[in-house]
Amino acid sequence: MMKSDENIKLDKMKNITSKIQNPNILELGVKKGKSTRMFLDICEKNNGYLTSIDIDDCSKILKHPKWNFIHSSDDNFDYINKLIKKDYDILLIDSLHEPNHIKKIFYNYFKFLKLNGIIFIDDVIWLPYVKGEARDNDFSERINRLTFDQIVRIYNSNKESLSLEIDFTGSGLAIFKKKNNQLNEDKKVINRMFTLKNLIKNIYAPKPKK
Ligand SMILES: C[S@@+](CC[C@H](N)C(=O)[O-])C[C@H]1O[C@@H](n2cnc3c(N)ncnc32)[C@H](O)[C@@H]1O
Repeated sequence: MMKSDENIKLDKMKNITSKIQNPNILELGVKKGKSTRMFLDICEKNNGYLTSIDIDDCSKILKHPKWNFIHSSDDNFDYINKLIKKDYDILLIDSLHEPNHIKKIFYNYFKFLKLNGIIFIDDVIWLPYVKGEARDNDFSERINRLTFDQIVRIYNSNKESLSLEIDFTGSGLAIFKKKNNQLNEDKKVINRMFTLKNLIKNIYAPKPKK
């Protein structure tokens, strides 16, 4: 049976996380607990611990000695930053899929990540949502394009502190690695595609000879 895109991305996160002994994991966004169960499976095998945060009360979805659930919006930093540990190996951002929220969250929780720690951000690719595609949806196409731009802007101003891989499976998964503690403000990527010169080039572009 073919694996769903969602399961392929979960497997990718699982493979990366499984390599860590005693992993300390922070998960933003629980819902029914798919990623929560995947991480707890690793915590059992590798003696790790998972803390999950959701704006909805997901505390009843499971009971596990290696799991702590915090019922809060993940941008309630005054509350959460006092509760959580300071040395996470893995951070999953899968809560409110909105570029400004993701930026805010990224900059707060980056401080709580160890060097070489990993940040997964789910849902960063717009391709399944464009017109005529399987999940054709104007809103999701726009939000995911903006989310992708936001992620590239963070990377663009922090190439010394971050590595970035994008998995294009389904709605996509960004995988950052923390290489340095310094994090600069994000930087707009200058786009010359819409200068007058390039717009004119698009109209009068010489056709390649056959
Ligand atoms: C896409 S689901 C998470 C899916 C989950 N990671 C999984 O693999 O099954 C998004 C979750 O984020 C939660 N959420 C939305 N906005 C939030 C916020 N500001 N803070 C914390 N959680 C939020 C929603 O309640 C929802 O449960």
